[in-house]
Amino acid sequence: MTIAAIIPAAGQGVRMGTQIPKQFLALSGKPILQHTLDVFQRCAAVDEIIVVVPANEMEAVRDFATSASKVKQVVAGGEQRQDSVRHGFEALDADTEIVVVHDGVRPFVTPEMIEASIHAAREEGAAIAAIPLSDTVKKVDKEQFVERTVDRDGLWRVQTPQTFRYAVLKEAYARAAADAYYGTDEGTLIEHLGRPLKVIPGSELNIKITRAEDLILGEKIAELLAR
Ligand code: C5P
Repeated sequence: MTIAAIIPAAGQGVRMGTQIPKQFLALSGKPILQHTLDVFQRCAAVDEIIVVVPANEMEAVRDFATSASKVKQVVAGGEQRQDSVRHGFEALDADTEIVVVHDGVRPFVTPEMIEASIHAAREEGAAIAAIPLSDTVKKVDKEQFVERTVDRDGLWRVQTPQTFRYAVLKEAYARAAADAYYGTDEGTLIEHLGRPLKVIPGSELNIKITRAEDLILGEKIAELLAR
């Protein structure tokens, strides 16, 4: 049975402050999205990839995305991230076993992390990569005064990959549609469904390239990993 990856890359990247959406900016000589696709191409466990991009970028992306032979389809995204991933999901065959969702702008995911998430999703139905918080956490009011310190014990920062049995994600979409529920990631939809959601270790290097400074950091990480 098929293991499919959905790579949402249909955001407008407004926080980056550039004309080109961040997923198409170059990182050590090639688009960020292409780095991400290359990792999924290399990951032996993944059979096929669906890439989700802005409707007006589909042609441009097809040019480089299809150099990864596992890319089965390039589809147009939606208004919110959840819509974009759902568009990718709708392009999958119903006999797909496992669906790996991974942000196009997290190019430093590793094949090992993807494989660990597939294993956990097979066992538990749904799994997300995350890392425990190491900073002190404060609740801050609108005037920027500290209200209180939040106990960080048990608090994790969530990343992707987020990986699901196909049937579980399908059920999560049906429930979200019925309740007009929106989450910031797919894991949230599983919580809304009331099903178990396993956490697997993410990585401090698995950054989401969101702001201009992330690109500088990204160049450094790429250098480090190339050594
Ligand atoms: O906006 P955020 O940083 O959470 O985006 C995470 C990923 O989701 C990015 O790769 C972005 O391109 C994608 N996205 C999308 N469709 C949207 C918004 C974000 O595919 N409408």
